[in-house]
Amino acid sequence: MRIDLATWQEVDAYLKKSDGIIIPVGSTEQHGPMGLIGTDALCAEKIANATGEKIGVYVAPTLAYTPAPFNMSFPGTISISVSLFQSLVTEIISSLIHHGFKRIYFINGHGANLEPLRHVSTTFPDINIRIRSWVDFESVNSLRQNNFGDWEGMHATPSEISITQVTHKVLPPGDAVKPPKKLSASFIKKHAGDRHGPPDQHRKQFPDGRVGSHSALANSKVGQQLINTAVNALSEDYLAM
Ligand code: NI
Repeated sequence: MRIDLATWQEVDAYLKKSDGIIIPVGSTEQHGPMGLIGTDALCAEKIANATGEKIGVYVAPTLAYTPAPFNMSFPGTISISVSLFQSLVTEIISSLIHHGFKRIYFINGHGANLEPLRHVSTTFPDINIRIRSWVDFESVNSLRQNNFGDWEGMHATPSEISITQVTHKVLPPGDAVKPPKKLSASFIKKHAGDRHGPPDQHRKQFPDGRVGSHSALANSKVGQQLINTAVNALSEDYLAM
């Protein structure tokens, strides 16, 4: 149930029986040689829209412009500052509150969004705001581990690419045909939430854009399983809000 495809009268009627909405959040940034620039936004959007249809909840337009400064040495990346992103989210939440929404669920696909979203949510203590990355649902995480293990890595993951293979298209692996540089456990821990260095250094360290992820393991069969599992997990978590 996309709110952008509803009329105001439909939203008015919805608000008489529900006060919740789902907002997908992603990014517009390089995702390696076989990943779409919009991967994070496209994955979050697919999961949000399918959940909205399943449980009858409105889904707001996807936030695809977000902070991704570390990827600015790769063409196609569009990054906005954390302060602009926080202002944008603040004004979106304020608009929704104005109309009577009281439960706002951000389903996220990009690590660097988490801290700013959490920060903004603390400025609305009277509203029920939930922020979850789809990859972090336990059931989704087991699927990722079972299918890709350590090769899931951190960026341009086979999981997210599997999903965009279902929703959009399959790209030939190109340079991603070879396994990427394997990450150490301490690197993963230190860089959680996309805490990467400056763009030049990041590109030098990960020249093809993959960060420990063997994108070429992606396949649409797993992609469909990931979508179904994430939709079930999001539906359950939204309804528990
Ligand atoms: Ni991504």
